[in-house]
Amino acid sequence: MDDYQQFIANVKRKTGIDLAQYKEAQMKRRLTSLYEKRGFKNFQEFFKAMEADRTLFHEFLDRMTINVSEFYRNAQRWEVLEKKILPKLIDRNRRLKVWSAACSTGEEPYTLVMILSKFLPLSQISVLATDIDENAISRAKLGVYVERSLQEVPEEMKKKFFTKEGTYYKIDESIKRAVTFKKHNLLADPFDTNYDLIVCRNVLIYFTEEAKSVLYHKFNKALRPGGMFFVGSTEQIFNPSSYGFEAEDTFFYRKMG
Ligand SMILES: C[S@@+](CC[C@H](N)C(=O)[O-])C[C@H]1O[C@@H](n2cnc3c(N)ncnc32)[C@H](O)[C@@H]1O
Repeated sequence: MDDYQQFIANVKRKTGIDLAQYKEAQMKRRLTSLYEKRGFKNFQEFFKAMEADRTLFHEFLDRMTINVSEFYRNAQRWEVLEKKILPKLIDRNRRLKVWSAACSTGEEPYTLVMILSKFLPLSQISVLATDIDENAISRAKLGVYVERSLQEVPEEMKKKFFTKEGTYYKIDESIKRAVTFKKHNLLADPFDTNYDLIVCRNVLIYFTEEAKSVLYHKFNKALRPGGMFFVGSTEQIFNPSSYGFEAEDTFFYRKMG
């Protein structure tokens, strides 16, 4: 077994995270640059050190998870959600079951709640938000952001739901209350069912084709018929019908049936 394959096996044993399901060249490059920066010669040395040093282990997790996010990321897509997708979903069912999968530091589920609040009272909104990375989840729960991540937030929403504290922006408690955060590994943990809307953006690009295909099936099963799957702006599904989806708009897929 080569150095990286052995590392994959060790990480899986230690954390349950299966790096083999992430695109190899990209992940290997990211992790190699980290261990070189920290002065190790190969993955074996790096893993040994990681086992003894929690900070290094967290650095590894940080490097492999890629937490970049922002509010209203690709704003035009959120407009499609608001103008075209949500009115139809809400027409059928006012108690929407919504999941933000791989939610990172919270910008995505909080964006969802802000948009949903245009249709429903906040007390009726509930979004499940999950990520594999506990650090990201802690930051999401804190709800404090730098100005840059608010660039796309409409002015009215910024006024209504954020408080400026020094150079930071704090999201309102009323928005926070509508989101339940949980740790969840998309590649290993079971999915709940009967969702009206699943948002999973900018994480599938890191996975192998096989892993992606398994996940499309699982997301399809997790939706109720007519439910909607919203993917990232580089993550178009090329053969949606083979997973039980039909394209409703670019980057939005409806569960058939
Ligand atoms: C680039 S961020 C995307 C955040 C947000 N969805 C967005 O589009 O702005 C990718 C997120 O996927 C998470 N992630 C990576 N592998 C995962 C897995 N196997 N299960 C769940 N989340 C995962 C990372 O921790 C990271 O927070």
